[in-house]
Amino acid sequence: MDSEQDVCLCFHVSRRKIEKFIRTTKPRAVSQLSECYGAGTGCGWCRPFLERLWRSENPADETLPDAEQYAEQRATYRKKRQT
Ligand code: FES
Repeated sequence: MDSEQDVCLCFHVSRRKIEKFIRTTKPRAVSQLSECYGAGTGCGWCRPFLERLWRSENPADETLPDAEQYAEQRATYRKKRQT
């Protein structure tokens, strides 16, 4: 996943925005990432990925799934939640 692709698909929050938010605000809890355009406050799919970025000493080096795979996995996640 490159920096322009969305980590939070519900609110279209890109990886770049999240990394900048982490770098500039240094949130003390992962839940504070919700202050970055609402990231993580929709379906919940992106929360583990937000946490990985937040916990990382260098979020830009964190490997996340490619965008297509990520979106497919989210669709499956959302379908399971509806049943
Ligand atoms: S993808 Fe982030 S809350 Fe749904």
